[in-house]
Amino acid sequence: MIRRWLVFFSVLFVAALAFVAASGQATPKKTPSAPATTSAAAKPAPGPGNDDCLACHGDPDAKNDAGRRIAVDPAKFTDSVHGALDLKCTDCHADLAKFTDFPHESKLAKADCTSCHKEKVVEYDRSIHAAARRQSSGSVAATCVDCHSTHEMRPKTDPKSLTYPLNLPTTCGRCHGDPAVIKEGHIAIGNVADLYKDSIHGKAVSKSGLMVAANCTSCHGSHDIRKKSDPESRVFRRTIPNVCGGCHEGIKAQYDRGVHGAASAKGNDKAPVCADCHTAHQIQRADVASWKLDTIRECGTCHVDKITTYRDTFHGQVTSLGFVRVAACSDCHGAHEIHGKGDPQSMVSPARVLSTCRKCHATAGENFAKYDPHADKHDAERNPVLFYAAGFMKWLLIGVFGVFGLHAVLWFPRGFAERRKKAGRS
Ligand code: HEC
Ligand code: HEC
Ligand code: HEC
Ligand code: HEC
Ligand code: HEC
Ligand code: HEC
Ligand code: HEC
Ligand code: HEC
Ligand code: HEC
Ligand code: HEC
Ligand code: HEC
Repeated sequence: MIRRWLVFFSVLFVAALAFVAASGQATPKKTPSAPATTSAAAKPAPGPGNDDCLACHGDPDAKNDAGRRIAVDPAKFTDSVHGALDLKCTDCHADLAKFTDFPHESKLAKADCTSCHKEKVVEYDRSIHAAARRQSSGSVAATCVDCHSTHEMRPKTDPKSLTYPLNLPTTCGRCHGDPAVIKEGHIAIGNVADLYKDSIHGKAVSKSGLMVAANCTSCHGSHDIRKKSDPESRVFRRTIPNVCGGCHEGIKAQYDRGVHGAASAKGNDKAPVCADCHTAHQIQRADVASWKLDTIRECGTCHVDKITTYRDTFHGQVTSLGFVRVAACSDCHGAHEIHGKGDPQSMVSPARVLSTCRKCHATAGENFAKYDPHADKHDAERNPVLFYAAGFMKWLLIGVFGVFGLHAVLWFPRGFAERRKKAGRS
């Protein structure tokens, strides 16, 4: 070990002498075209060059005393966005910028991105990931390198980049699909990566390579990711329609015109948002039967009386048996642009209800539409005929069973006595 250090030291010493001698005439090295915030990279800094660092770190087997890899692959670094721009090692490892007296200290400051990417660092500092890191030094929340790698960073347009859209589910999924991280991070929602994988968006990304389908960052952002309880989160309840509407603009416009969208926009958190009916990470095609049936139940969690009356109808009975060819709530009311029955735009307003039934009952006449899809047998005022008929049927049933029951009870001792009499005679 000591011999290795000595060799390095003398090599460096000679190199440093040569550098000092040559620096007078040498043309300055090409400096990276860093963003305006750059100061470190703009002026040709004295101090060690990349070759100096790579003299030790370029060795593929380089490890520190604890056995941790400290090797940097020069070829991969050159191929990265920073290497291609001729960034110096010390642009990021800034505490070694003026250092010449190797070996350097074993504990160095974290690599600094602020000097060139201030905006992203500020955004990241507002995120749940950064907050978790600040709160606990043992946190496993994402830092720059978890999403970008260290010396192999690439722009998001490069298919080899961790942030390339088609790679993102894996990049986030490395933690959000790992039970240990989920437990340590107290992530209540659990394994999102698995849920997402089977959703329409997840399949579009992983199976079809559809770049425009929603991936983790389309809905959560990249740097300023926040908890859903944070009003500034993209997935805060009331802002969810905006997130989905970023791509599903037409549906968002319909939703906004309807009662649910209007109520949500006014701050009524009892109104449904996209994720209530579609979920967030298990979104399916709208023609999947099991989802359609689930959505009827979902409407029913808020409109309890309406699902009760619906279940008493032919349509409701058939859907509760698991068939979807009859009318679900949304077939009569619409899915996104729902209005109260008094609103002429409503699909169940007196003016439009017949055409709504005729979507399926092609030959239905005026009278057919008078049928009440929410007839309530307990409501004498709304459905007097049904109320009294149901009452009559109930009492008829009680009467019939009562009379025959009494008859059976009275007949029993009589029959018993008769049988004994017969037995005595024979
Ligand atoms: C003489 C050999 C040598 C040279 C030259 C050298 N390093 Fe190191 N470097 C080491 C060794 C050995 C370690 C491991 C220290 C430890 O963990 O005990 C290390 C560790 C590091 C670490 C990890 C520190 C940490 O906190 O884990 C960084 C970053 C680093 N070096 C960057 C550089 C940069 C940048 C340069 C050039 C300016 C450079 N090194 C030049 C030998 C060298
Ligand atoms: C774009 C910024 C950037 C540049 C340029 C850069 N590094 Fe790093 N380096 C990092 C980050 C980020 C880490 C992860 C640890 C941390 O945050 O400090 C790291 C870690 C290291 C480590 C510790 C081992 C490891 O892989 O975690 C060594 C050694 C190291 N760098 C050496 C170098 C050398 C040598 C060069 C020049 C060839 C270089 N770095 C250029 C950002 C950079
Ligand atoms: C949770 C993952 C994640 C973390 C943590 C993260 N990033 Fe990013 N970053 C991304 C994604 C995804 C993109 C590409 C999409 C975008 O621009 O939003 C990106 C893009 C970038 C870009 C390029 C922006 C552009 O205009 O193309 C820079 C620069 C960047 N990040 C720097 C950082 C820095 C610095 C940090 C740490 C302070 C950091 N990132 C932390 C995921 C992350
Ligand atoms: C000395 C200045 C400098 C430092 C320090 C630096 N970068 Fe960069 N970085 C650049 C330049 C210049 C580019 C290419 C121009 C651009 O797209 O912003 C770039 C590009 C990137 C990209 C790709 C952006 C894209 O085009 O999509 C990412 C990601 C990135 N840097 C992350 C980091 C992270 C993380 C750190 C800290 C560990 C860091 N950078 C440190 C100057 C720097
Ligand atoms: C290195 C691991 C890691 C990576 C990579 C990562 N996260 Fe996280 N994430 C965490 C941890 C740990 C928490 C919990 C932080 C806490 O509250 O303690 C978290 C929290 C979150 C939260 C808030 C959830 C909650 O219950 O607090 C969201 C949303 C989130 N991450 C989304 C993402 C997205 C999107 C990506 C990819 C762009 C990503 N994360 C990448 C580890 C990671
Ligand atoms: C189509 C949009 C969308 C996509 C794609 C998406 N999410 Fe989400 N995510 C949401 C919504 C909306 C919520 C809020 C959930 C709710 O209210 O039920 C959420 C919640 C979360 C939470 C819990 C947040 C908290 O504060 O409790 C985490 C963690 C998370 N998502 C991670 C991810 C990861 C990782 C991916 C990629 C694999 C991803 N999400 C993809 C929309 C999305
Ligand atoms: C009250 C429940 C509910 C809410 C809230 C809701 N949807 Fe839907 N959505 C449905 C139903 C039911 C269907 C099936 C419609 C059909 O079969 O005609 C559907 C169908 C869809 C479809 C596919 C069919 C098509 O017309 O393209 C998309 C995309 C969609 N919704 C997106 C959204 C978005 C985005 C939001 C939020 C702005 C949202 N939904 C809010 C219930 C809802
Ligand atoms: C980044 C753009 C994007 C975002 C954001 C997005 N989607 Fe999508 N969504 C798509 C694309 C693209 C498809 C078509 C995928 C396919 O057909 O393979 C799709 C498909 C769907 C479908 C199935 C449509 C059908 O034909 O049956 C539903 C439902 C849906 N999305 C709902 C949502 C909801 C709810 C949200 C918000 C939580 C959301 N989407 C956010 C792009 C997006
Ligand atoms: C998360 C709860 C919730 C879900 C789920 C829900 N709704 Fe609503 N709905 C409401 C609220 C709250 C209102 C009242 C909005 C307002 O303030 O005008 C409403 C209003 C209505 C109205 C107008 C009634 C009136 O009195 O103006 C109809 C019709 C309706 N919903 C049908 C549906 C259908 C059909 C579904 C399923 C596709 C559904 N709702 C799912 C909460 C919900
Ligand atoms: C066969 C068509 C049909 C189906 C299926 C249906 N409805 Fe209705 N719904 C109507 C009609 C017609 C009205 C107006 C009649 C009335 O209440 O006076 C109505 C009224 C309503 C109202 C009251 C509207 C208002 O402005 O007061 C709500 C809420 C409602 N339905 C919700 C639902 C829910 C939830 C489901 C599914 C569980 C459902 N409906 C299934 C046709 C239907
Ligand atoms: C999505 C299609 C659909 C819509 C919309 C619809 N129905 Fe039906 N309905 C059916 C199917 C399918 C049956 C099963 C009987 C059949 O094949 O005729 C049925 C059966 C019925 C029945 C009992 C059987 C019968 O034919 O007498 C009544 C009553 C009924 N519907 C009334 C209505 C009324 C009133 C409306 C409008 C408010 C309506 N339906 C809207 C599909 C629909």
